[in-house]
This record gives sequence, structure tokens and C-alpha cells, in this order.
Amino acid sequence: MSKALDNLLLYAGVVKRVGYTLTFGMLNAGSRDELLKLYNGYNGHHQPGENVPVDPFIIPKTDVFELFGNDNAAYEGVYECGFGHTTEFELKVISNLVKKWNPQRIFEIGTFQGRTTLNMALNSSSDAEIITLDLPAEELASTKMEIEEGEVRYVKKEVSGERFIGHPAASKIRQVFGDSASFDFNEYHNSVDVAFVDGSHAYEYVLNDSEKAFSIVRKGGLIIWHDYTNWPGVWTALNELHQNDSRFRGIRHIGGTSIAILTV
Ligand SMILES: C[S@@+](CC[C@H](N)C(=O)[O-])C[C@H]1O[C@@H](n2cnc3c(N)ncnc32)[C@H](O)[C@@H]1O
Repeated sequence: MSKALDNLLLYAGVVKRVGYTLTFGMLNAGSRDELLKLYNGYNGHHQPGENVPVDPFIIPKTDVFELFGNDNAAYEGVYECGFGHTTEFELKVISNLVKKWNPQRIFEIGTFQGRTTLNMALNSSSDAEIITLDLPAEELASTKMEIEEGEVRYVKKEVSGERFIGHPAASKIRQVFGDSASFDFNEYHNSVDVAFVDGSHAYEYVLNDSEKAFSIVRKGGLIIWHDYTNWPGVWTALNELHQNDSRFRGIRHIGGTSIAILTV
């Protein structure tokens, strides 16, 4: 009887809490955050920085690389895909591209937690250099152009590059900070073998970052863009570049991913 009463009280407490969260609670940032967490949990997403069990699924994974061969890369953290990350498959595709291009110098625009940075480091030669540019949270209000509201959460983080900090491969990684629209790319002109464009997803920024990537990548080098299929700004900017700018005519979308690539 007392167990039934306990359950009833618990149920009443949950109903009260949910009722509050969905009404007056919406005025409160903590409650909104709680709701977002609930939603993300429901959808299998995780918050950036949240401790996620590695591969929480029961059924073992496979993918086209494993089924049909040609997966030559090594990875870490592939199964921890969350907000702001490349998907598991995309991370494998990028790692394989890096392995194939065997770059001496990689430049990434948009570090976030450094999950892709780390995997690019793991798949490049021991003397390769990976430079990764990130917008410091303090500069959010003073960017040269406007970034998308939906990506503010990726800028506002306590640590940029937390996935590789302290990792043995971090010795190959150099972090630089600034706004990609005002950052001085001159030092890297024509010297980069692989550029990964994954900073702001706003149309103007994608145009800016694509131009900057083109200026730093050597002839025969590779530009990789992320989020072509799922951010309107990226989609529109890359479509326009492909159609109107002969330098970008060779862009190709890798099917089954949101990745686009160009051999310069
Ligand atoms: C989607 S996250 C990058 C994810 C990361 N490349 C990965 O694969 O895990 C976007 C990153 O771009 C950064 N960013 C946004 N606007 C930027 C700007 N104007 N200049 C430089 N970095 C920017 C954000 O701080 C964030 O770290």
C-alpha cells in the first residue's frame, strides 16, 4: 500500500514538474535547458561535453567500409556523435580522405570539441601539422559578419578542443583563435594540403571561409566542407560557388553524407 502511495506521490511530483516546465518554466533558462536535455535524450542526441557512454547500443555496428573494404583509417570517439559533430560515417569518410591525401599540413576552420581534429591527426603522418581555428566565446558579439543563432551553442563552450587536449596526438595540433572573417590567413597561403571548412554555417561566412580555404590550399590539395545538406547557408553558398565560380566547379557532394569536397 505504501509503495503504491510512494508511486502516486512520485507521479504527482513529475506531473507538477512537467506542468511547470511547459508553462511558467519556459521563462526560466534552467527549465528551458532541462526541456532541451529531455528532448535530446528522447532523440538520442547528447549535449556537447556531456559524458556519453561509448557505443551505448546493443547491436554491433557495421558500415559500408567494413562490409566492402577500403577502410584504412584509425579512429577515436567515432560512436560518440552528438550536437555539432560529424556523424560516425562522416568521421570515417574524412579520416579516409586524410589518409589518402597524406597531408603535411591540415587547416580546420571550426574546432569545437576537436573530435574531427583529433581523428585527422590520428590519420596523418607523424610529422604532419594540424592547425585548427576557433572563435573564442568572448568574441561572439564582435564577429565581422553575423553567425547563425543556432550555432551560438558551439561557440559558447568552456574548452575548445577538449577531445585532443592531453592526447598523445595533440603534439601535432596547433590551436589558433579568432574570427575567420578577420583572421590573417597569409602565413598559410598556398601551403595547406587539406582544409576542413566547418566554422560558421551562415551564408556569408561559408563564402568567406571557402575563399580563405581556396587561398591557403596548394594546387592538388583538398577542401572538405561539412553540413552541405543540413544548413541552408552552407547549401546556398556552395551551390552558388559551384554554379558561378569556375574555381569551385569541381565541388562534389559525397552521397550519404553532408560532406562536399573539391580538389583544388
Ligand atoms: C560545428 S562546430 C565544428 C565542429 C568540428 N569541426 C567537428 O568536426 O567536430 C563549429 C565551430 O566553428 C566555430 N566558429 C563559428 N563561427 C566562427 C568564426 N567566425 N570563426 C572561427 N570559428 C568559428 C565555433 O566556435 C565552433 O567551434
